[in-house]
Amino acid sequence: MTTLLVTGGAGFIGSNFVHHIVEHTDYHVVVLDKLTYAGNPASIADLPDDRVSLVVGDIADAALVDDLVAQADAVVHYAAESHNDNSLNDPRPFLETNLIGTFTLLEAARRRDVRFHHISTDEVYGDLELDDPARFTESTPYNPSSPYSSTKAGSDLLVRAWVRSFGVQATLSNCSNNYGAYQHIEKFIPRQITNVLRGIRPKLYGSGHNVRDWIHADDHSSAVLRILEAGRIGETYLIGADGERNNKDVVELILRLMGESSDAYDHVADRPGHDLRYAIDSSKLRAELGWEPRYRDFDAGLMATIQWYRDNESWWAADKDRVEAFYAARGQ
Ligand code: NAD
Ligand code: DAU
Repeated sequence: MTTLLVTGGAGFIGSNFVHHIVEHTDYHVVVLDKLTYAGNPASIADLPDDRVSLVVGDIADAALVDDLVAQADAVVHYAAESHNDNSLNDPRPFLETNLIGTFTLLEAARRRDVRFHHISTDEVYGDLELDDPARFTESTPYNPSSPYSSTKAGSDLLVRAWVRSFGVQATLSNCSNNYGAYQHIEKFIPRQITNVLRGIRPKLYGSGHNVRDWIHADDHSSAVLRILEAGRIGETYLIGADGERNNKDVVELILRLMGESSDAYDHVADRPGHDLRYAIDSSKLRAELGWEPRYRDFDAGLMATIQWYRDNESWWAADKDRVEAFYAARGQ
């Protein structure tokens, strides 16, 4: 039986991937997760014990990582400090986890000769103009804007160097903005949904004209599984589902879907260095590996996500006051 070591598997996209693996394969999964504020064991607690086990620990712990990598057939590396606003407040954990943590995993994969897939973001490419028809491709130059995206860019470059210099059997993927169940309520969509559920007006940074390219987390998972099983070693694949929307439209849609007036939100302080637009050209992944997204109806996906947060208040409620206090202190 194949055993996958999934780092960050108690976080948003990692836990969606673990659910996807249990449903669509017979692989065994070992999750390595530090359970930071963003990790929640409840996100994988409903999965069978004989398929999924959780090890609580740090990806920068070399002895632990070496031991777990030695027992795995492949590593899928999701663990990261993932939120731009936190990185503007305190960059240090981003360097420790995203750079030193990735380095620690790569060294173990090198020693143990284990297949490695690195999860990254479209933010490594910087941003695009609103009126530019261009989209990011695998050959777009790196130009990250924030402490978060610069550490993700650095982690990508480490992976590429470990492939070239040490022959590590690695692939990389850079995905656009995910939405769906189990996303931490600090992020844009679940923050606004849980604001409405709490009677707080949604908060839009600046003008709200910034564009993100939304993909359902389960489509991200199916793409990663495809790359893991059929991707060419050393290659980067961009993952996206043609989901460009500006933030203003998304907030207004959330309000309408939740039965509120679509103008019942506040404009708040903009994010420093706020990237204007992300857009992914995923034709390499589609042409080479035959991948296609399944969730093409954003309104339906968003409605199901809203329903998940309604049904799972116990999953998010304990953190709501802390998150809103963090934003209030930043004028957001
Ligand atoms: P998340 O913040 O929801 O989850 C991160 C997980 O990593 C948490 O469970 C956390 O406990 C764990 N973690 C953090 N530091 C750790 C450490 N030192 N050791 C072990 N575990 C640690 O993040 P997410 O949104 O699920 O993102 C997952 C990955 O996907 C990240 O690499 C991110 O850069 C990438 N990504 C995210 C998006 C998005 O839209 N959220 C899009 C593209 C790529
Ligand atoms: O593009 C992929 C990236 O998407 C991932 O690499 C990151 O891990 C993930 O967090 C996400 O980054 P963003 O910064 O785009 O996501 P966030 O949810 O923080 O914000 C989405 C947009 O919404 C962004 O333009 C900022 C804006 N925003 C955010 C919040 C939290 C608001 O207008 N109001 C808010 O309250």
